Amino acid sequence: VAIHTNKEANKISPALHGIFFEEISHAGEGGLYGELIQNRGFEENRIPAGTVLKDGFLVPYPEKPHFMLEPGKTDWKLEWPLKTDWPAWSAAGTGGNNITLSLTRQQPLNLATPNSMCVTIDGYNAAGKAQLINEGFWGIGVKKGEVYHLSFYAHTDAVFQGQLQVSLQSAAGSELAGYRFTGVKGSKWKKYTCDLLSTADDPKARFVINFESAGKVWLDFVSLFPEHTFKSRPNGLRKDIAEMIVGMKPSFVRWPGGCYVEGITIESAPDWKKTIGPVEQRPGTFSPWGYWSSDGLGYHEYLQFCEDIHADALYVFNVGVSCEYRSGTYVPESEMQPYIQNALDAIEYAIGPVSSSWGKVRARNGHPEPFPLKYVEVGNEQHGPKYARRYNQFYDAIRKKYPDIVIIASMGIGDVNRHTLDSMQHVQVADEHAYKDVNWIFRNTDHFDRYKRGNWDMYVGEYATNAGVGAGNMRAALSDAMYIMTMERNADLVKMSSYAPLLVNENDVDWPVNLIHYNAGQSFARISYYIINLLAENRADVNVPVTLSLNREADKRMQFSGGIGLGTWDTDTEYKDIEVTQSGKVIYASNFTGNRSEWKPVRGTWVYTDSGAIRQTAEGAQQLAVLPNKQLDNYTLTLKARRMGGV
Ligand code: AHR
Repeated sequence: VAIHTNKEANKISPALHGIFFEEISHAGEGGLYGELIQNRGFEENRIPAGTVLKDGFLVPYPEKPHFMLEPGKTDWKLEWPLKTDWPAWSAAGTGGNNITLSLTRQQPLNLATPNSMCVTIDGYNAAGKAQLINEGFWGIGVKKGEVYHLSFYAHTDAVFQGQLQVSLQSAAGSELAGYRFTGVKGSKWKKYTCDLLSTADDPKARFVINFESAGKVWLDFVSLFPEHTFKSRPNGLRKDIAEMIVGMKPSFVRWPGGCYVEGITIESAPDWKKTIGPVEQRPGTFSPWGYWSSDGLGYHEYLQFCEDIHADALYVFNVGVSCEYRSGTYVPESEMQPYIQNALDAIEYAIGPVSSSWGKVRARNGHPEPFPLKYVEVGNEQHGPKYARRYNQFYDAIRKKYPDIVIIASMGIGDVNRHTLDSMQHVQVADEHAYKDVNWIFRNTDHFDRYKRGNWDMYVGEYATNAGVGAGNMRAALSDAMYIMTMERNADLVKMSSYAPLLVNENDVDWPVNLIHYNAGQSFARISYYIINLLAENRADVNVPVTLSLNREADKRMQFSGGIGLGTWDTDTEYKDIEVTQSGKVIYASNFTGNRSEWKPVRGTWVYTDSGAIRQTAEGAQQLAVLPNKQLDNYTLTLKARRMGGV
């Protein structure tokens, strides 16, 4: 039997390795995005408790805001377990100072971000403190000698005298940097700025405003950025994380999700138009991952990042479907036009001439030249006939206006092998996701070999070994490496890939295995990161044709001996007989007496049980499912098989 053949010298796509950024696990907010103040615009309580929505889903993390379906009811209700109306902010009054906080929507800074914080200080005593504190994203990572740009908007009542001290304070309470304002006064919103130079390192610093008189102060959009952002861009990206991404030399960046694109509901799904323009006026997005992003890292900043790292942009947009795999709200097909127009506008913003409506806006936002948008993806992880119909609508409209843009269709797992593709016109690239157990790929090295071929290319938009590997380890990296090699070997089909998720803030983990980890002070990458880079940097140009033949008729015999003693074997060997001996004594032998035509492929697990018997778990099972309950030392396992697989 011939296996693993590369009949043609297929070229390996230069775009094989890209990245996928999703706003999950604080990837952007409290991650790649350089902002150091959490909840800077006081907007993070905007979905009030008890809001009844027509639709919703259950976030699998009970400590996060989530939707519940009450018994006997059909409407979903948002449960909002926030302990405070102003997450990440707190107040401290000492020495007789009484400081109270309240959110208000009166006299908003702008209508898109209606909340502001009203701070009331009474019984003022100069010897005490009246402080408003922001904890950052589980601390603020302050570095000695680094300058931090602070800005905030404020207005006051007539009582407040105008003095307040802003500072960065260590976790222990000592001042690392400070500045005193003396003229914060007036009934109209005004922007105040200063620079803070830190005298020491602290990964868990806090930002503190100490009010130095009685009165009322209204605050909004309190923002703190390190001077050194990636490429020194204002409203820029955190340098260490961005540089780690640069280290991957990705050929493209898929953005912004993932489930994030789908939104919890249609109404709350991200909309690129609300993520451009003045940062103070971006309403932000509350996502399926249970937290707010300010959208400071918006569509423009994303495109800028792609340009800065010489990667093509791959923008994923919502197709009028929310969280399909959980509850799935579908905007009727007859009402798709605004969604289609929104996607067309996004493309125009990125690459349209400055004379076009959205190209003009891009130029106004500081970038007259087109951005490197090469791909768009029609939804995330949607599939099936309903999706196929709307994909066709989007495809036709986009292709008509943009003949050169690459249009990617989203898929469910295994869709490329099923009929969904056939009901979709003009599939150019199909994005199928692949989260696998450890070693899965070693049992399925021919996975892509068996894929149906057609007039489309494949993009594995999300892949990772994410079960049985803790938070990511050497075994995960080896499985990932093998997975990448199977993509390379099928270079005629698989042209693009991206690992997922890319980023995780270790203080708010939404997904079990992630590539680049960080907290406020540090960042590091898992082994898979280095494996991917190794294979990307040494990407083959072409597959050499190979044919490997085995004699199907001859029995193969494979023996394992020793005291490994794990007690389970996971094999894809097609077996005839199995024998286990211990100290020369046969302790298990299969009683298989059938003839060759009855041989079955076995992808199972044998378990040495307490009773001394070896039993085979679910024949055909593809995963390790049963844990051993006894060590089996000094054994010899003999597989007499017609085709050897891994054990
Ligand atoms: O990468 C995490 C999630 O996995 C993505 O949001 C989604 O596309 C997939 O199911």
